[in-house]
Amino acid sequence: MSALSATDPTSFSNPDKVVVTHIDLDLEVDFERHVLAGEVNLSLNKLVDGVDTVILDTRDVTVHSVTDKQTGQQLNFSLGEKLEAFGSKLEVKLPTSADKKCDITIKYETSPECSALQWLRPEQTAGGRQPYLFSQCQAIHCRSMVPCQDTPYVKCTYTAKITAPKVITILMSALLEGSKPSASDPGKTVYSFRQKTPMPSYLIAIVGGDIVSKDLGPRSKVWSEPELVEQSAFEFAETEQMLQTAEKLLGPYVWGHYDLLVLPPSFPYGGMENPCLTFVTPTLLAGDRSLADVVAHEISHSWTGNLVTNKTWDDFWLNEGNTMFVERKIAGRLVGDSGEQLRQFKALCGWHTLIETVDDLGKEHPYTKLVQDTKGVDPDDSFSSIPYEKGHALLFYLEQLLGGPDVFEPFMKTYIDKFKYKSITTADWKEFLFTYFHEQAAAGVFDKVDWDGWLYGVGMPPVKPTYDMTLAESCETLAKRWLDSSEEQLSGFTYSDVEQFLPVQTEQFLAAFLNYSPLSHAKIIKMRDTYKFDEVKNSEIKFRWLRVCIKAQYEPAIKPALQFVTEQGRMKFVKPIYRDLYNWETSRDQAISTFQTNRNQMHNTTVQTVAKVLQLA
Ligand code: BES
Ligand code: ZN
Repeated sequence: MSALSATDPTSFSNPDKVVVTHIDLDLEVDFERHVLAGEVNLSLNKLVDGVDTVILDTRDVTVHSVTDKQTGQQLNFSLGEKLEAFGSKLEVKLPTSADKKCDITIKYETSPECSALQWLRPEQTAGGRQPYLFSQCQAIHCRSMVPCQDTPYVKCTYTAKITAPKVITILMSALLEGSKPSASDPGKTVYSFRQKTPMPSYLIAIVGGDIVSKDLGPRSKVWSEPELVEQSAFEFAETEQMLQTAEKLLGPYVWGHYDLLVLPPSFPYGGMENPCLTFVTPTLLAGDRSLADVVAHEISHSWTGNLVTNKTWDDFWLNEGNTMFVERKIAGRLVGDSGEQLRQFKALCGWHTLIETVDDLGKEHPYTKLVQDTKGVDPDDSFSSIPYEKGHALLFYLEQLLGGPDVFEPFMKTYIDKFKYKSITTADWKEFLFTYFHEQAAAGVFDKVDWDGWLYGVGMPPVKPTYDMTLAESCETLAKRWLDSSEEQLSGFTYSDVEQFLPVQTEQFLAAFLNYSPLSHAKIIKMRDTYKFDEVKNSEIKFRWLRVCIKAQYEPAIKPALQFVTEQGRMKFVKPIYRDLYNWETSRDQAISTFQTNRNQMHNTTVQTVAKVLQLA
C-alpha cells in the first residue's frame, strides 16, 4: 500500500504539497454509452517550494490529455496500475512556472463500470419514459467520476456545465445558475451549477432523469419522478421545521437551498447528505411521516460532516456519531414536551443496534473500534453502525457526565463555529472538548472517562450511559409476554397491544425477538394476524418482521423476503436479509439464484456487498 498517501490511506493524492482549490467540470451525459465525457479544470495551489507533480485519484477513467490551462501546453502524465477500490493514481507534471497557482485541464471520460454512477433504463424507473442516472460518491467513488484529490482532507468549491438530452432534468449538489439550449445541438440542454462553499470531493453529486419538483418550504423543494412527487411532499413536509431546529442547535444554514431528491428504489442508502440536495431512498415513503428521521439526519450533516468534516475515513465517527446525536435532538424537539423521552428512547434503540453490530462483527474485530486504523481497507467494506452508534453513545455519555443538554448543546454550537470549513481528526475534537470544558477538566471530570477504551478499544464501550425507559418499557414488556406465553395463552393478544405504539416502538418490539431463540410458527401466525404485520407499509417494521420470520424458519416468509430485497436496494435492509436467507439451508439456493437473476439491475455497491454475503466473491 506504499503508493497510498501519508495524509489519507484511501487516496494516492499529495494535498500536503499541492492542493486543489476549485473544480470546474464540463461534461456531457451520454445515456447511450453510459459515460460522462468532457473535461475537468483543476485550480491548484502549490504549498511547498519545488513541487513539480500533482498526484490525483482516478478509477476506471480514460484520460485523453492533460494541458496547462493558461498556455494550452500539453503536460506529461502517467496513469498507474489499478489497485482495486482505490483505483489508479494519475501523476501530472506541473507547468514549470514560479507561480504558486496553476490550472490544469484534463480531457477524459468515465467508463460504463464507473462505480459512482448507476444508469437505469426507462423500464427501471417509475415512469418508464426516460432513462435515469444518479451518483453516490461517498466514500471513495468520486475518483471514478472526476479525476481529483479524492480525500476529505481537501475542501474546494466547484462549478459545472452539464450537457444532457433536453427531456432530462439535471441536478447537482450545488445551486443551479441557469440552463439553456445547447448551441451545437438543439436537442440538448446545458445546465450551469455553482457550489460556492468549499467541500470535500465525496459530496459531488449528479442526477439526471424525468424529475419534477414541489415546494416544501421557503428554501426547499422535493424532487422525484412525477409519479411520486405528491406523496414525497406529504412525507417530508416537516423539512423547514427540522432546518430551523438544526439552526437553533448549530448556527446558520450556509448552503442556501435545502432540497430533497427521492431516488429510484435501487439507491443503496437511506439518505446521502449531498449539499443543497439530499438524496433519499423511496423506502422512506411510509405514508405517515414516520421515517422522516432520515431527513433530520441528512439535514444535520449540513453542519456535522459538510461544514466540519472528518479528515480521513478513520475519523468517520466525527461525521456520523455527531450527526446521529443531532438527528435525535431534532426528533425530540419536533414532538414538543415529551421530546426528551423520545430522544432517550431512540438513543437506547441505538445502543441495541450497537450490541447487535458488535455481535455480528465479533467483539474483537478491528471494525468495532470507534476510531478506525484499517489501512488498505475499502471503506465500503468496513462500513457498519459502529461509527454511528458508538459515536452517538460517547457523545450521549459525555453530555450526561458534563451536566446535560444545557451545558452540552452550547459546546456543540461552538464546536461547529470553531471547525467550520475545516477537516479535522479525533485528536482535534478531543483537544477542543478539553479546552471548552477546561473547568470541568481541571476538576477532574474527564479523569473518569476511559478514553482509550472509548476511542480505540474493540467491542462494546467501557460504560453504558443511562437511558430513560418510559417508552422502552411497554414494548419490552410486550415482547417478553410473547416469549413467555404458552400456545394456549396466545388468544390473550389483541391489536390493542400495539395500537398506541409509535412506529419506532413497534420496530423495537420486533427487534427484541432477534436476540432470543426463534418464535414458534404458531406465534408467528398469531402475531401476523393480530398485529397485521403482512400489511405494514413502514419499511423499517417490514424489515424486522421479515427477519423475525426467517429466524423462526417460517417458510412462507421466504418469498416476500426475496421480493423485499429485489424491489428495493437499500443495503441496510438487503444485506442482513440476504445473510439470513443464506444462513438458512432451505432458502440458500433461492437467495443465490434471486441475486444472480437480479444483479444486473442492482447498484454496483450493493452487488459487491451481497456477493460477499453469499460467498460469491
Ligand atoms: N453519509 C451517510 C451515507 C453513507 C455513508 C454513504 C458512508 C456512503 C458511505 C448518510 O448520512 C447516512 O448515514 N445514511 C443513513 C441514514 C440513517 C443513519 C438515518 C442510511 O443510509 O441509512
Ligand atoms: Zn449520516
